[in-house]
Amino acid sequence: MESLQLDSILRGRSSQPHQLIEVLHDVQEYCGYISVEAMRYISENLGVPSIEVYRVASFYKAFRLKPSGKNVITMCTGTACHVRGAKLLLDQAVGQLKVKPGEVTEDGLFSVEYVNCLGACALGPIVTENGSSYPHMTPGKLRKLIDSLSRKEREEAKNAAAQH
Ligand code: FES
Repeated sequence: MESLQLDSILRGRSSQPHQLIEVLHDVQEYCGYISVEAMRYISENLGVPSIEVYRVASFYKAFRLKPSGKNVITMCTGTACHVRGAKLLLDQAVGQLKVKPGEVTEDGLFSVEYVNCLGACALGPIVTENGSSYPHMTPGKLRKLIDSLSRKEREEAKNAAAQH
């Protein structure tokens, strides 16, 4: 992220703790994740010790400290979803995409993540994909969802190649 963009995010912000969280949200929204360089820049410009910036950024699960794939598959592994088979869903996604939770596939198209509760326990197990929710998910439905996203990505790549 260029310092010019960080400057515009930081403008008018102070070193108050709630402002730090807002800044981290804005940086993530803009960049997709919060890099070490961005944390250093925030620390220097807000006057917050870098260890504090890192502590806040790494404490909240909502913040990503690494780049994510184009399609982010997120499993809820909270208690209600866990007892309804969330582990099977995580195994399905990890096995199908050949990627560890928190990492990105080699082609950069997918990442698999998990959260502790999405706040809709009655609809569990829940999976989200780039913000779209899929309630009452099963391994079979998840396999089809990932297959269809992979197909869409291949189509887009083919169309982009045909235009060049
Ligand atoms: S435990 Fe999954 S939504 Fe609450």
